[in-house]
Order: sequence, then C-alpha cells, then structure tokens
Amino acid sequence: MGASSEHWDRIYRERGPEGVSWHQADPARSVGLITAAAPDHDAAIVDVGGGSSRLVDRLLDLGYTNLTVVDLASLALEYARRRLGDAADRVTWVETDVTAYRLVHPVRVWHDRAVFHFLVDPDDRSRYLARAQEAVAPDGHLIVATFALDGPSMCSGLPIVRYDATSMTRAVAPWFEPVRFEEETHVTPGGAEQRFLYGDFVRTA
Ligand SMILES: C[S@@+](CC[C@H](N)C(=O)[O-])C[C@H]1O[C@@H](n2cnc3c(N)ncnc32)[C@H](O)[C@@H]1O
Repeated sequence: MGASSEHWDRIYRERGPEGVSWHQADPARSVGLITAAAPDHDAAIVDVGGGSSRLVDRLLDLGYTNLTVVDLASLALEYARRRLGDAADRVTWVETDVTAYRLVHPVRVWHDRAVFHFLVDPDDRSRYLARAQEAVAPDGHLIVATFALDGPSMCSGLPIVRYDATSMTRAVAPWFEPVRFEEETHVTPGGAEQRFLYGDFVRTA
C-alpha cells in the first residue's frame, strides 16, 4: 500500500480542505463524465479517494441518490460531512484503503481523481484493479484522472505515475476498455498549473 492514513490526515489538517493542492471549487469535468456514463439518478456511484471533494455535493444537487465516498483520511471525510450538514446522511462514507475494500453492491461508475497515480507499486495497482473490476457492473464505467505526462512527478511529497492515453489503457486492461480521454489544466490554490488526464473506460464483457 502507498502512504498511510496519518500522512493524508496530516496534510488535510495542515492545509485545510480548500488549501490542498488538488482542491477544485467546481469539479465540472468529473460531473460531465459521470452524468454521461450514468444518466439514471438511481445509479450507484463511488468516488474512491474522494477526500473532501465537492463532487459529492454536485451529484447530490443533481439528484443522484446512491453515492459512496471512500477515503483513507478520516479528517477529509469529516470535512465533507460537515460541509454537507444533513445532506451527508444521504451518502455512504467509508474510511478505508480502496485497494482492500470490497464494495457491497455493483456500481455503475467508479470515479477516481488523483488516487490511482499514487500506486507506484505494480502489486498495489493489481489490487486496486481487482477491487474495481469486482465492483463495476457490466457496462459500468471506470473514470480515472491522473497527472498527465507533462504534469508533476510528485504530489504531497509522494512519487506518482504519470499517464498518457496509451499507458492508462494498458494499466486498466483487460478489465476495462477506453471510451474517451480529456485533458485538463488544474490550477492549485497556490496558483501552480498541473496537467491532468481523465480516462473514461467501460467494463469489458
Ligand atoms: C490527491 S487527493 C484527491 C482527492 C479527491 N479525489 C479530489 O479530487 O479532490 C488523494 C486522496 O486519496 C486518498 N487516498 C490515497 N490513497 C488511498 C487509498 N489507498 N485508499 C483510499 N484513499 C486513498 C487521500 O486520503 C486523498 O484524500
């Protein structure tokens, strides 16, 4: 496994939910990809390594009813729950390592922004993909955002793996096949630009 929950909790404590480098006021690209993959608002959606992301707020606003957020960092989940208030009760929150967690029901969308790229050990990637292919329903989607080849080589003091469309496709084969790719330049709260690649994959038969 990569970094500990203590590592992530410390970063969230030191920087706060809106000071972490990956913070987005509006995760619009993820929302666009998820709504295209799962137009049905009853569809089960999991945001793995969701942290304190506002993605879950946007999906609740759109009427999605079956949302799960998984993260190692208890503090990140606590920030998100506090922000949402009573609406947090409409979300399933799971504090665990996604490479070890078996979802209890199949999902239409497995979304991951900036988690898979921390898995630098091939065994960790295999475990992650085993969990994803167990969890994603037939015809369901895996939506993964990582740093692109021209993105940073480290994040939060940890090494990461950068991907292009070819290497990302290879990394999730044979369980998933590509539907589309989108690139994005994320501007951190400190003003730095980070190039991301979003891959939308469908579960193979
Ligand atoms: C770079 S942040 C991205 C957070 C969120 N996806 C977003 O876009 O705002 C990475 C997140 O993944 C979590 N994380 C890292 N490794 C994890 C693992 N093995 N299992 C679950 N969560 C993990 C961290 O606690 C952190 O919240």
